[in-house]
Amino acid sequence: MTRQMTLVGFMQAGNVTVYSGSWRYPSADLSFLSMDYYRHIARTLERGKFDLVFFDDRLAMPGVYGNSVTDAVRYGARPVKLDLTAVLGGVIGATTRIGVGATYSTTYYAPYHVARTFATLDHLSDGRAAWNVVTSVNDSEAQNFGLESHLDHDERYDRAQEFLEAVVALWDSWEDDALIMDRTSGEFADPEKVHEINHSGKWFNVRGPLTVPRTPQGRPAILQAGSSGRGREFAAEWADMIFTADPSLAVAQRHYRDQKDRIEAAGRNPDEVKLLPMAYAVVGETQAIAEEKERLFLHAYVHPKASLALLSEVLNYDFAQHDLDDPVTDEMMGASSGIRGLAEGVRQHLDREVTVRDLAAHRATLLQGPRFVGTPEKVADQMQEWFETGGCDGFVLAATHLPGAFEEFVRMVVPILQDRGLFRREYAGSTLREHLGIPRPGTGV
Ligand SMILES: Cc1cc2nc3c(=O)[nH]c(=O)nc-3n(C[C@H](O)[C@H](O)[C@H](O)COP(=O)(O)O)c2cc1C
Repeated sequence: MTRQMTLVGFMQAGNVTVYSGSWRYPSADLSFLSMDYYRHIARTLERGKFDLVFFDDRLAMPGVYGNSVTDAVRYGARPVKLDLTAVLGGVIGATTRIGVGATYSTTYYAPYHVARTFATLDHLSDGRAAWNVVTSVNDSEAQNFGLESHLDHDERYDRAQEFLEAVVALWDSWEDDALIMDRTSGEFADPEKVHEINHSGKWFNVRGPLTVPRTPQGRPAILQAGSSGRGREFAAEWADMIFTADPSLAVAQRHYRDQKDRIEAAGRNPDEVKLLPMAYAVVGETQAIAEEKERLFLHAYVHPKASLALLSEVLNYDFAQHDLDDPVTDEMMGASSGIRGLAEGVRQHLDREVTVRDLAAHRATLLQGPRFVGTPEKVADQMQEWFETGGCDGFVLAATHLPGAFEEFVRMVVPILQDRGLFRREYAGSTLREHLGIPRPGTGV
C-alpha cells in the first residue's frame, strides 16, 4: 500500500476554535456546553476516517493582556474551556473507531493522575486514547495553581522528562497477562506481574503500581508539539505524533528532516513517529467562494483585542501596554522570541513597518501554519504537495468554524484524497496505534 496521510481534527472544548472570531460566524453552532455538540463533531470526523480527534487545553482564561480577563470575556477570546476527561468520555461513547486525544500539562498535574486518566480512557475506548503532553505556556495558568509565575522553559522540560518516565513506568506496572480472573481458584491477578515502580526523583516520588491494568494499546499514544531545540529532543524521545506550526513548505521540510534525524538519534524508527503540521482549510465550491469565506473569518469577525488577548497569552507578553498603532520595536521583540518570529513573518507580507495592530490581524490569520484556501481539488493539491515533498506525514486540521469546517472538509476534500490513494477509505484496524501503523509497545521497553 502507498504511504497514507495521518489526519487529526484539532478541537477545543469551548466557545471558539483557533479563530478567535469563530463563534460569531452565522452558521457556527453555539451549543459548546452540550455533549451532543462534541459527539456530532467526532462522528463527522469518524465518517471522514480521521485518525484522531484531539482537544487542546489551557488551565486559565487569557489574563496576560492588560493583566485582566476583561477583554477575553467581553470578546469571547477563549474564556470557556471545559474539563477534557468528561468530554472525551462522551465522545468515546458516541464513536467506535476514531482515536480520541486530550491535552494534559506536565507542569500542573501529577504523573499518577495523568497515567490513570489515560489508561482508563484507553480501556473505555478499546485502545483509542492519546495524550497531548504540554508544559503549559504562561503565568495565568501558574496563578491558578498557587504559583506567581510559570516555571522557566528548561525547568519545565526537566520536569516533563521525569513526568514521562513515571507515567510510562505506571502504564507498564501491570504486565499484559497479569489478570487471571479465575473464579474457581479465587485468583484475581498474579502479584508477580503487577509491580511497584518506586520512582524517586527531583520532582516526583511515586510508588505505584497503577490501579488500572495494562491497556489495549499497551500505552496510550503520545502527542507533543515542542518546537524549541529542547522540545524537539523531548518529542524525539517520547512522541508518537508531533504537531508542528511552520509557515511555509520550505521551513516545514527543514523541520521535518531535523526532527526525523533527532528521532533516529534517539534510537527510534523515524517512520513510526508522525510529523503533523497544524493546517487550516477553507473550502468553497469555487475559488471566489472560498476566498470570501476566508475574508469573513479573518477580518469581519475578529476583534483586534480578542486577537491580542490570545497573542499575549501564548507569548506571555502584555500587548495592552502598547497602542494598536505602535510599531513593533526591537525591544518588544527582545521580550519574547515568539514576538520576533511572528513580526518577521508578518514583515514578509507587508511593505512597511509592522504595528501591534498588524500582529493582531495576522494572529487572526494564524500565520504560523499553512492555510489551504480554495476549491476541494485545490485544497487536496496543496495537501498532497506537502505530503509528497518531505513536508509532513499528514495534518492537524484546525476548524475555522464548527461544525461546518469539518463537515465541508469531510464531504468535499476527503473523497478526493481517497481517490488519489493518499488516504484510507476504511479503518483497517481498531486501535489508534493500528490507524497510525505504529507498534504496540511491550512493557519496560
Ligand atoms: C498544534 C499545536 C497544539 C498545541 N496545543 C497546546 C495546548 O493544548 N496547550 C498548551 O499549553 N500548549 C499547546 N501547544 C504548545 C506546545 O505544547 C509548545 O509549548 C509550543 O509549541 C512551544 O514549543 P516549546 O515548548 O518547545 O518551546 C500546541 C502547539 C501546537 C503546534
